[in-house]
Amino acid sequence: MKNQILQIIKHTIVSRAHLTPEMALRLLTPQCALWSAPVEDNPFKDPYWAFYWPGGQATARYILDNKHLVKERVVIDVGCGCGAGAIAAAMGNARRAVANDIDPVAIIASQLNAQLNGVAIATSSEDLVDTVCSCDVVLVGDMLYDEEFADRLFSWLTRSAREGKLVLIGDPGRHGLTGERRSQLSLLGTYPLPKDTCQENYGYTDANVWRLKAN
Ligand SMILES: C[S@@+](CC[C@H](N)C(=O)[O-])C[C@H]1O[C@@H](n2cnc3c(N)ncnc32)[C@H](O)[C@@H]1O
Repeated sequence: MKNQILQIIKHTIVSRAHLTPEMALRLLTPQCALWSAPVEDNPFKDPYWAFYWPGGQATARYILDNKHLVKERVVIDVGCGCGAGAIAAAMGNARRAVANDIDPVAIIASQLNAQLNGVAIATSSEDLVDTVCSCDVVLVGDMLYDEEFADRLFSWLTRSAREGKLVLIGDPGRHGLTGERRSQLSLLGTYPLPKDTCQENYGYTDANVWRLKAN
């Protein structure tokens, strides 16, 4: 773990150039040597956690602007990546803010980022999808990029909303968010993305935050 921490610190920079500048995050950006290094020099396998995805930025922005939604509540940021959703929930005085990701390096990065912002988060590396999970709020940032996984995830989120959980989904328009799924959602907000985020995300220009309806 110590080695992973050192590698994360070595290959990322602290950035506030995103939709939640009040939050400092260690990210892999074009300013980092690793950005343009050959693949074989990359010590991380699929480092999704090293980027702050448009959907995650929008979800965290929405939480920071609507802290009452998480105050004193148990919040789980599923597929947390860099941990921004959980950190936003902790900044909003959640009773417990949990950063969940099946990538153990994402968990380490999320803890580093939480420390950077002076907040405490809990972590979990379990695959919670399809389980009964005890929480009040589920945050999902940019998880609808894969058709097959979107099916599984969306069914679970639908059940979670029916159980009374507040389910918030941040998404820039990924293909997993089909028209049929969109009909189950209420739009809460749309955020224009910073220029660098647009460039790093194949021309997406904004990201939406949706609430999954309970029925
Ligand atoms: C595109 S990234 C989004 C990260 C972050 N939410 C954001 O928006 O910046 C997707 C993340 O989901 C994680 N992931 C994929 N399947 C998962 C699962 N079943 N449970 C938890 N995390 C998962 C990946 O490891 C990755 O960190």
